[in-house]
Amino acid sequence: MQNQDISVKEIDETRQGEALEMVAKGGSGKKLYIESYGCAMNFSDSEIVASVLIDEGFETTKVMEEADVIFVNTCAIRDNAEQRVRGRLDQFRKVKKSKPDMVIGVMGCMAERLKSKLLEEEKLVDIVVGPDSYRDLPNLVRVAESGQKAVNVLLSREETYADINPVRLGGNGVSAFVSITRGCDNMCSFCVVPFTRGRERSRDPESIVAECTQLLANGYKEVTLLGQNVDSYLWGGGGLKKDIIARGDLTGTVSFAELLIMVAKISPELRVRFSTSHPKDMHDDVLYAMAEYHNICSYIHLPVQSGSTRLLELMNRGYSREWYFERMAKIKEIVPNCGLSTDIITGFCTETEEDHQDTLSLMQEVGFDFAYMFKYSERPGTAAAKKMEDDIPEEIKQRRLAEVIEIQAKNSHESNKKDLGKTFEVLVEGTSKKSEEMLQGRNPQNKVIVFPKENFKKGDYVNVLVTDCTSATLLGTAVK
Ligand code: SAH
Ligand code: SF4
Ligand code: F3S
Repeated sequence: MQNQDISVKEIDETRQGEALEMVAKGGSGKKLYIESYGCAMNFSDSEIVASVLIDEGFETTKVMEEADVIFVNTCAIRDNAEQRVRGRLDQFRKVKKSKPDMVIGVMGCMAERLKSKLLEEEKLVDIVVGPDSYRDLPNLVRVAESGQKAVNVLLSREETYADINPVRLGGNGVSAFVSITRGCDNMCSFCVVPFTRGRERSRDPESIVAECTQLLANGYKEVTLLGQNVDSYLWGGGGLKKDIIARGDLTGTVSFAELLIMVAKISPELRVRFSTSHPKDMHDDVLYAMAEYHNICSYIHLPVQSGSTRLLELMNRGYSREWYFERMAKIKEIVPNCGLSTDIITGFCTETEEDHQDTLSLMQEVGFDFAYMFKYSERPGTAAAKKMEDDIPEEIKQRRLAEVIEIQAKNSHESNKKDLGKTFEVLVEGTSKKSEEMLQGRNPQNKVIVFPKENFKKGDYVNVLVTDCTSATLLGTAVK
C-alpha cells in the first residue's frame, strides 16, 4: 500500500487481487489467468468473464507463468487503484518477456475510462475491454492472437448478462455475489462510476431468483445482491431505468423491496444481503421487508460520504445531514439491532475545518459498526474535476482521514463490546485464519465471529454466545 489511505476495503481489494482459482474444463487447452481489483461488482464480473471464456474451451490456472491469456479486472475509483494496476502490468511485462505469444488484456473500469489510450500508454496490453462488452471476449482474444490490438469499450443500455451462469471463483462455497443492477444514474460529482459503467439498468428478477435457487442447490447459504444503488432497482421489462420511469405507468414493475422478498422466499435457509444502499433512495418498504423476513440480514451499508450538508450538496448526493439522521432513526425503529456501516471521504473540494467537524460529529452520533474511509482523489471527467478545484492540501486530507479513522476505531471497539454476552446466529464460512481448531463466520449484522470448532462445519448455522472481542473480531462459544 503506497499511502495512508488504508481501510478494510483497501485490504479487501488487495485480497481480491490474488489469483483466483477457477474451475477448469476441457477444450482448447488454452490457459486463462484472471486477477480482480475493485469492488464486489468487479469480482462478480470476473465470474461472468470466466464463464464466457470457459465456454470457448479455455482452462484456468492460478499460475501466471502458465497462462496463454492474462486478464486484469481493474478499478478506477481512486488514483491509487489505477496505480496498483499499473504496478501489476509491470509484473506481467516480465512474464511476457519469456513468453512473447502471451495475450494480455485489461478489463473493467480503468479499461473503460482510458479506452484505446491505454494501448498507447501500456505497450504490452493487447486487449482493452469495458464492463458491458464481455460477450465479445472470444472474438477479442482471437483478434489479439492474430497479432492485432483489440478494443471494445461500448457501453450498453440493455446488457445485464442475465442469462450467463457465472463460474464461482475463489469463494468459500457458502456465500456468493449476485448482480441485480448495472451502471449508475446518480452522478455524484466526485465519482467516476457513471462514466465507467454507464446508465443504470436492472436485471430480470426471474433470472436473479433462478440464479439464487441454483446457488442454494449447489450448497450456498448466502447471497449478496449487488448494485451501485440497489434501492434504485426497478424491473419493467428491461432497458434503462430512466426509460421505464418515463413511461409513467409502473404497473407490473418490480421494486427492490419486492425483489428482496422474492429472493428471501426461496428458502429460510438462504441468507440474503445487499450492497450498496443509497441514503436518498432507501425507503421504508425495504426496512419492513428486512423486519419481516428472518433470512434478510439485519445489516445496511449506507455510505454518507460527509456530515456537512454544504458538502453533500457539492457532492450532488441528493440528501442532507438531517435526512441521513432521519433514515438512521427509521432503521433503528423498524430493524432493531441492525448492523450499520458507511463510507467517508475526507478533503473533498472546499472542505473546511467546520465541515470536517460535522463529519466527525455525525460519526460520533451514529456510532457506525464499521466504515470504509478514503481521501478524496480527483477523477478526470467528473463534475468535480471539471467545475471545482481540488484545493485541500494533501497533508490536511491525510490528517482529517487519520481523525476519521481514529473515531471509527473507537466506535468499532465500542460496538463490539456492546455485543459481549449476546447470542447470534452465525453462518460458518470456514476455519479461522489463525487456528485450525476454530471456525469463523458472520452474524446477520455482518460481524465476524470466531469460535471453537467442536463438530460444526462450513455452511452450518450455529448460535454463538459472544464472550470476548477485539476491535475487529468477536470471539465466542456455541450454545444450544
Ligand atoms: N455506489 C456506492 C459507492 C461506490 S464507490 C455508493 O454510492 O455509495 C465506493 C466508495 O468509494 C464511495 O462510497 C466513496 O466513499 C468512495 N469514492 C468514490 N469516488 C471517490 C473519489 N473520487 N475519491 C475518494 N473516494 C471515492
Ligand atoms: Fe458513484 Fe454516486 Fe453512483 Fe455511488 S451512487 S456509484 S458514489 S455516482
Ligand atoms: Fe472500482 Fe468500478 Fe467498482 S471503479 S469500485 S471497480 S464499479
